[in-house]
Amino acid sequence: MKRRELLKSIGLMGGGAFFSPLANAFSSLNFFSSQAKNNLLPGNINFKPSGDLLKSAFGKDFIWGVSTAAPQIEGGWNEDGKSPSVWDVFSQIKGKIKTDEKPDMACNFYHKYSEDISLIKQMNFDAFRFSLAWSRILPNGVGEKNQKGIDFYHRVIDKCLEKGIQPWVTLYHWDIPQVLQDKGGWVNRDVINWFGEYVQVCSRAFGDKVKNWMVLNEPLAFTALGYLLGIHAPGKKGFKNFLPAVHHAAMCQAGGGRIIRENVIGSQAGTTFSCSPVEPFSGAQKHLITVEKFDAILNRLFIEPSLGLGYPVKSIKQLKRIDKYVKSGDAEKLKFDFDFIGIQNYTREIEKYHWFIPILKGKPVSAKNKKLEKTEMGWEIYPEGIFKMLKKFSSYDGVKKIYITENGAAFPDVLSNGKVNDKKRIIFFEDYLKKVLLAKNEGVKVEGYFVWSLMDNFEWAEGYRTRFGLVYVDFNTQQRIIKDSGLWFKNFLSE
Ligand code: FCB
Repeated sequence: MKRRELLKSIGLMGGGAFFSPLANAFSSLNFFSSQAKNNLLPGNINFKPSGDLLKSAFGKDFIWGVSTAAPQIEGGWNEDGKSPSVWDVFSQIKGKIKTDEKPDMACNFYHKYSEDISLIKQMNFDAFRFSLAWSRILPNGVGEKNQKGIDFYHRVIDKCLEKGIQPWVTLYHWDIPQVLQDKGGWVNRDVINWFGEYVQVCSRAFGDKVKNWMVLNEPLAFTALGYLLGIHAPGKKGFKNFLPAVHHAAMCQAGGGRIIRENVIGSQAGTTFSCSPVEPFSGAQKHLITVEKFDAILNRLFIEPSLGLGYPVKSIKQLKRIDKYVKSGDAEKLKFDFDFIGIQNYTREIEKYHWFIPILKGKPVSAKNKKLEKTEMGWEIYPEGIFKMLKKFSSYDGVKKIYITENGAAFPDVLSNGKVNDKKRIIFFEDYLKKVLLAKNEGVKVEGYFVWSLMDNFEWAEGYRTRFGLVYVDFNTQQRIIKDSGLWFKNFLSE
């Protein structure tokens, strides 16, 4: 997700663009194991975690995983009965994806899943987080099931289990079937029933094998980018789309949790949230107003209703307009006591007060220190942020435990002599993991960490340029090469 773009658009968009007419804007490797013993690989890269960073420090029950999402890796967009998702359709529109790349083939996981799951095993991870494509399972969105689609996920799950890898399933990672989008998608209140039916089908089909479930992936991202700013599928804009989409997603979040708990014996029902620390541009009091508002949107909008706290309308009074979409009885149905929450952190945001910007009263800016290191996404590297987010989310009564369900970085990787030396990514993981450990040692119930991502993939509107994988993918040949960061994890996790 292009967070800075999202925030900039929100902050800068004036003239009633969104709250109109309410006034203005919201605004793999035997070779390696012998090398690992002396900690070095050719090129003098230190693969041994530095300092005190040891896997054992996180405890023997800590889960180590890799994350992916169906539209970003599967390909097979129209194979074996799958219908198009919003991303299949959106990506066909010229200019929507940088360089006009399409997810049609992506990483061809649909055919290469067995090899890919073997790579996860080779890197010594315990868990694989992937999402189900709604339009592969229910090509009409509801109604008739596509057995071939269901069988595909059985093959993926069975392969994981055969390799001793826990399958962690996300029900929705941004790919509503286009047939449902044609009826309004997340804006249509009927999505609550459509999604409920989909969750019933998935939990009944896979519940005897899959115990760890996540209902939604980052609901703020798909509602804001897809239904407010129009830069993600399905490309809708404005508050008339955003506010109902938010309310319906929040209803589905809780409703999906209830269905999982009812249908899956021994389940852990969770859902995931994007989050970033929001910090003031300077110590001046005025920036704090802006900080509170951005924090409400970026970090509180979806977790608080599930905890029974409602939407953060005290911080952003214009959010009250969501009441128009709230029916009697909804307040109760918005609540669900998730067994865990997943938090996904990549960077931080800095906000500067501007009196003339309506609603959010300011906009995101770069940190004063311009020398701060950034990733290929333009996101500042800020390991302290993951510590702050763990503290913040664990401080809510009702949050029972946390998994980091995504964290990672895109860098301009180069394949040279069959290797990818991604030292910066290794340093990124070491620094972030130290902060996760610090939070754990200070009592935060953080019980697992999933790397974004297993392999380079289709990064939404960015296309294939921004590489987040531990495994390098040559998109011309579909060849996979474990990067040095993947080898780093292999060594770290072998302890
Ligand atoms: C997250 C998304 C994930 C990927 C990473 C970089 O917001 O959940 O699919 O795009 O960002």
